[in-house]
Amino acid sequence: MDPIRNPYAPGAGQRPPELAGRDRELEQFAITLERVAGRRPERSLVLSGLRGVGKTVLLNALRSLAVQRAWGTGKLEARPDQSVRIPVAQALYAAVRDLGRRHRDEDRVDAAAAVVKAFALRTPMADRKGHRWQPPTDVLAARGRGDSGDLELDLSEVFCDVAELAADLGVGVAVFVDEMQDINADELSALCAACHEVSQQGAPLVVVGAGLPHLPTALAASKSYAERLFHYRVVDRLPRLEADRALLIPASTERVGYDECALEELYRMTDGYPYFVQAYGKVTWDAAADSPITLADVVEAAPVAEADLGVGFFGSRFERATPAERDYMRAIADLGADTDDGSVLTADVARALGRKPSSLSPARDGLIKKGLVFAEERGVVRFTVPHFGRFLRTQRD
Ligand SMILES: Nc1ncnc2c1ncn2[C@@H]1O[C@H](COP(=O)(O)OP(=O)(O)O)[C@@H](O)[C@H]1O
Ligand SMILES: [Mg+2]
Repeated sequence: MDPIRNPYAPGAGQRPPELAGRDRELEQFAITLERVAGRRPERSLVLSGLRGVGKTVLLNALRSLAVQRAWGTGKLEARPDQSVRIPVAQALYAAVRDLGRRHRDEDRVDAAAAVVKAFALRTPMADRKGHRWQPPTDVLAARGRGDSGDLELDLSEVFCDVAELAADLGVGVAVFVDEMQDINADELSALCAACHEVSQQGAPLVVVGAGLPHLPTALAASKSYAERLFHYRVVDRLPRLEADRALLIPASTERVGYDECALEELYRMTDGYPYFVQAYGKVTWDAAADSPITLADVVEAAPVAEADLGVGFFGSRFERATPAERDYMRAIADLGADTDDGSVLTADVARALGRKPSSLSPARDGLIKKGLVFAEERGVVRFTVPHFGRFLRTQRD
């Protein structure tokens, strides 16, 4: 079929043609927005799940809901080894700009921008490596607000001031944090404390997070009350009906259908993982001669999809690992073959590699930092990428 009309969108953060199976999260968040704008107590939202399940695109869809309601919004992606101060300042400045376009009192807008600037400029020397951003505004930085150097206090102040600017307009501020698990423990704790403070003051600001499956555990470890700050939603593979919708709806706008057994085989291969649904949908479309798409088309396209994923989704990640880390991953792949979710004990990895567990810590930590592996509990590791173990096992044969 015409590749130009191919509707599918495999790729990190690529907006899917149909966001299937996420109505509950969208509805819940719409309620959150109304409640927060009405200054009622409400928890924010944290999304967690493996790579490729659609956290980033859901976060973007939630942001659209806030934008539709004329909220001030901003988004950041946390990185290991980087303070959140500058990225948060950039997100808040974006929100101030959103609000400033509608606000009647320029002085109030400038005052909020000045606090964001003071907050950004307080970046410790050590964190500045190539990161000396400040809001591109002539407004002078405020003094004595958001600039103490204590991240918890500074976040609380800058959040409250930007939230008050939104409150003038009867709306709120939403800050979206992707890859939230990459915020270090101290800063995560400061961020939770600031959210707690903001909600106690009834200031209309929410922080919406997304990250790997261990994010809720990391939040709970950073502050005991984190459990009560957020609604936790696990983003996961799509059930059969929703995976079908993700394929059928975009196709139907191009007047293309699928045979039932084609859909069944696609589900068998993708397991309902959104990234795989898009990847297999895309190549199957290109392989098919006409509508409806048949089982034969799916079978013909499958090796192409596997090859694409082997390069893009799996391969690019494997390449990032050092030789020692690759050995570690192969051991996880072999041991994980027999477990339900692919999680394995680090002690078993050490045994399989004939090494002392302590000597493998650098490899394990490196893989965690690179986002290839995560540890939800002590002594257990698992791939962040679905089907990664299977991919590595086929590489060996
Ligand atoms: N609900 C969904 N329905 C259909 N496709 C989706 C859905 N969510 C995500 N996708 C697709 O899955 C892929 C991965 O999405 P992404 O948000 O980058 O995942 P994550 O952030 O969890 O790694 C993208 O190609 C996206 O278009
Ligand atoms: Mg993502």
